[in-house]
Amino acid sequence: MPKTAEPQGYSRRGFLTRVGATGGAGAMFATMGALGLAPSAEAHTKVPFQPPQQSDFRLRGRGAAKVLVLGAGVAGLAAAYELGKAGYDCTILEAQDRVGGRNRTLRGGDRLEEIGGATQRIGFSKDVYLNAGPARIAQWMTTMDYCRELGVPLEVFTNSNASAYIYNESAGMTAPVRWRTAKADVFGYISELLAKATDQGALDQRLTSTDKERLLSFLSGFGAIGNKAAGYAYTGTERRGYTVDPGAGDQVGTVLGPPPSLSEVFASGVGRSFSFEFGYSQAMLMFQPVGGMDAIPRALADALGKHKIRTGAKVTKITNLASGVKVEYVQHGRTRVVEADYCIATLPPQILAKIPHNLGASVQAALATPVPASTGKIGLEYGSRWWETDEDIYGGITNTDLDLSTIWYPSHGYGTRRGLVVGYYNFGAAANAYAALTHPERLARALDQGAKIHGPRYKTGITASASISWSRQEHIEGGWIGWPSRGAEYKLLNQPQGNVYYSGDWLSYEIAWQHGSFESARKVVTELHQRVLKG
Ligand code: ALA
Repeated sequence: MPKTAEPQGYSRRGFLTRVGATGGAGAMFATMGALGLAPSAEAHTKVPFQPPQQSDFRLRGRGAAKVLVLGAGVAGLAAAYELGKAGYDCTILEAQDRVGGRNRTLRGGDRLEEIGGATQRIGFSKDVYLNAGPARIAQWMTTMDYCRELGVPLEVFTNSNASAYIYNESAGMTAPVRWRTAKADVFGYISELLAKATDQGALDQRLTSTDKERLLSFLSGFGAIGNKAAGYAYTGTERRGYTVDPGAGDQVGTVLGPPPSLSEVFASGVGRSFSFEFGYSQAMLMFQPVGGMDAIPRALADALGKHKIRTGAKVTKITNLASGVKVEYVQHGRTRVVEADYCIATLPPQILAKIPHNLGASVQAALATPVPASTGKIGLEYGSRWWETDEDIYGGITNTDLDLSTIWYPSHGYGTRRGLVVGYYNFGAAANAYAALTHPERLARALDQGAKIHGPRYKTGITASASISWSRQEHIEGGWIGWPSRGAEYKLLNQPQGNVYYSGDWLSYEIAWQHGSFESARKVVTELHQRVLKG
């Protein structure tokens, strides 16, 4: 171990934590590299987090503080869970009669109410569920670490599937194409064009002769194109799929073809869908908790202790005091007041902006700055898994330019009798259009649209359905938010205002992901704990 510049009086771990806290993960990782603890500065690292511990208070003559957490969504539950590890006295006030916030799994027997009074009684069969909010987790996300720590079992969530479809009606497509076919054609024609341009010298300013050789070799495999003698032409390949599958003996199979022309392929716009799966947060493999996403908030609530959560408690006023905080809330029709040393407000900003407080005009303006985004889903339970038996689709997502946007096939229960298809998961104007409808109207519209992909069968055999519009959910009023820019308002709310802290995915760089909620909770927990330790 080389001699390091570790300051006197710090443990190695404490030093690293301190560097992480002041300089961020990059500084910490560079420091680890200098200490010989990390393989290279380029390696991936997570934002460092050291949960508060009871032993942190030893020799300091201080104890853990009393903290009110507003909201039992993922950020609120995680904050109370982490602070609870060090003995903080946390109480969560939650307006709904359940925990989880937007992490909600709908099952048979549930009631789903909307602003305006519409109520759905969910009739799904046993083991059938709709993850109405979050439904996928990337491997790098902190959510995975909490699932491990809390013992939430995971299974693969299939986010991309070569057998699912792409359908762009506005581009003139008259039938959906499988992702595999779309990729074969787009990659094939791009490879043909690039190979021709390379061979004809059009890229000579950019490529050495060795580069050209290597590029042509790559394109030959990437696009499955012809050789130089064949003009590097793309003429189709078995990658497009088969109309008759290969079998035994002389059953060689019939390749789907011929491909449409290059112009037709580009006109269809199918290639626009591909980049989705390149995203850091959307790339396979992805995961989901076995049995429903709400296993995460349930496990958090169990771990922190359900007696610490007051449900049906709607916050009506937040007052910062000289040495603490006072929160008013209404529960069972009665106004109650509770005081604590600190408050962590994890409600969505559009809800917080409606709650009176004494934190000043700039805080109020900041809370009103993020713009709520609309999103919705419909779950369609079918009595048979026709997408598997008739269309060979086992999980994954069909992408469209219809107002249903996407159709999701279940990533569990393969080969069983029934299952649930997400008939739309849409955003923005499309989500608003469905939000304005009654559930039966949403169902009819989703089925009309989906039948363009799957044919008339799509409208038959439905045994139950449920739809959610997140902008019509009381106490939430949006799927997530967008910051016009992460400017002064974002920075302001990422700092404590007196004894009030704000937390949630909306204060992170992964909005609309549980990862953002967990990371924001960890940030606030760390800051609050350091403040309490300093006294
Ligand atoms: N996290 C959300 C999704 O995966 C936005 O669709």
